[in-house]
Amino acid sequence: MRALVTGGAGFIGSHLSEALLKKKHEVYVVDNLSTGSIKNIKRLKKRKAFHFHIDDIMNEKIMKRLIKKVDVIFHLAAAVGVKYILDNPLESIRTNVKGTEVILEFANSLGKKKVFLASTSEIYGKNQDGAASFKETDDRLLGSTTKWRWSYSCTKALDEFLALAYHREKELPVTIARFFNTCGPRQSGRYGMVIPRLIKQALMNKPLTVYGDGKQTRCFLYVDDAVNAILGLVEKKKALGEIFNIGNPRSISILDLAEKIKKFTGSSSKIEFVPYEKAYEKGFEDMRHRKPDISKIKALLKFSPKVDMDELLKRTVTYFQK
Ligand SMILES: NC(=O)c1ccc[n+]([C@@H]2O[C@H](COP(=O)([O-])OP(=O)(O)OC[C@H]3O[C@@H](n4cnc5c(N)ncnc54)[C@H](O)[C@@H]3O)[C@@H](O)[C@H]2O)c1
Repeated sequence: MRALVTGGAGFIGSHLSEALLKKKHEVYVVDNLSTGSIKNIKRLKKRKAFHFHIDDIMNEKIMKRLIKKVDVIFHLAAAVGVKYILDNPLESIRTNVKGTEVILEFANSLGKKKVFLASTSEIYGKNQDGAASFKETDDRLLGSTTKWRWSYSCTKALDEFLALAYHREKELPVTIARFFNTCGPRQSGRYGMVIPRLIKQALMNKPLTVYGDGKQTRCFLYVDDAVNAILGLVEKKKALGEIFNIGNPRSISILDLAEKIKKFTGSSSKIEFVPYEKAYEKGFEDMRHRKPDISKIKALLKFSPKVDMDELLKRTVTYFQK
């Protein structure tokens, strides 16, 4: 199989590219290195079956050339991370909307190529019911358009609608996955991702900054589990035209997470509580809890996370220590 991975120099994309190469596929990557890094694919660049293009997914000429060559497109390139979205609002909207349209249009016109679209748990917006886990068919609850955070959710929702429209009207084979927090080696902490940020602070013996009261809970999936889910989904005919949550249903509070990170790094750092307004912007809205219901992907692939929280942290800490 010949695969195009957009955003392949990013966190999930580089792990996916590595897994595809291991399975003896030919891999093409396009990445503009806005949040990704050459370091992530340093080892892959030596492989004959790996082809890397530093470019933008909105560059129609290059996208046409690449999509022509491949059988399947893993579309992961996106403006990602709450902080990145707040700092780069216009570029984020353009990348997530126009970029996805370019890919879907060429995938359709150049021979109905299979598309895997990376969406997000941000789609669900603010949670009203703390104990609940989100099902793919659940309602969405979003804040006002004056709160920039929600632009990410809206652009990804539009991506989903676009992909589903291409599927309905043009019979384009598409599968959509909503990733909940995915973590592991190579994830950058620069754009608001909590685990790499706290690990770096702990290793530098700086205060571990926990936003709000730290009682908010999240679920974290190890990146290899996410990659296995992606590879499983693209092989299934029954996944076409469907949306799947990919995540780990086990929750942890951010304060407990910070304590665990202190333990695994042996750090003597203090934990410092930072108001959301100071961390992001005035009036910033966050959800108290966010948990995936993974029964749909479980039924199709028998998917369940293999790497638990402690092992995820051990592997990620080891990566940052190196
Ligand atoms: N990691 C998570 O927890 C998580 C959660 C939900 C959704 N996702 C989704 O998964 C996908 C991958 O995310 P990630 O965590 O690996 O983030 P990442 O930032 O590491 O990867 C995104 C990659 O896309 C590239 N990119 C951005 N804009 C581009 C453009 N216009 N042209 C070409 N390349 C561009 C970046 O340089 C980066 O390498 C994204 O679509 C994201 O929305 C990730």
